[in-house]
Amino acid sequence: MDASDMGLDLEKVLLTEEQIDQRLTQMAAQIDADYAGQNLLLVGVLKGAVMVMADLSRKLHSQVTMDWMAVSSYGSGTKSSGVVRILKDLDTDIHGRDVLVVEDIVDSGLTLSWLLANLKSRGAKSVEIAALLRKPAAAKVDVPVRYVGFDIPPEFVVGFGLDFAERYRNLPFVGTLAPRAYQS
Ligand code: IMP
Ligand code: MG
Repeated sequence: MDASDMGLDLEKVLLTEEQIDQRLTQMAAQIDADYAGQNLLLVGVLKGAVMVMADLSRKLHSQVTMDWMAVSSYGSGTKSSGVVRILKDLDTDIHGRDVLVVEDIVDSGLTLSWLLANLKSRGAKSVEIAALLRKPAAAKVDVPVRYVGFDIPPEFVVGFGLDFAERYRNLPFVGTLAPRAYQS
């Protein structure tokens, strides 16, 4: 899928495929350096983090293993409440492990703040977060995100894994939707 497939639904491209690729390369280099010689476990949060996980992990030179969680945050509409339910748990016992949670976006921070506490309570040796996007102006809780791709304005974005009503995850860039896209 590309911008031309979106017709008038696309408002603007916020981050191009090239910008995302370059930034993920830098983040991977940092992660390689920080976890050198360690047996890192990458935990992707379904479904939004699929693209970030796929691209970031393939840029790493380190030996890593990967696992996935799916969580749903109770709340109305597009606002997350911080009350989180696990839909799919890890297959891995993370006791004593170095864990890096891979996320698409930190918005209010409520989901990740819950997830961080949950993973730490399982006795992980370390739990850090890598997120492609962060909306500092939307933060409701302070979540320590060790690796951030881009800080963006508090607008709703789609693409590179991020959806609106499950659509547009397969855009190779990150963009904003025109108001008409919300109405159809
Ligand atoms: P939180 O508000 O930080 O708890 O974000 C919870 C989840 O909401 C994120 O992991 C995303 O899946 C989703 N989300 C937040 N902002 C956006 C956005 O701009 N576009 C699409 N999904 C979003
Ligand atoms: Mg998400």
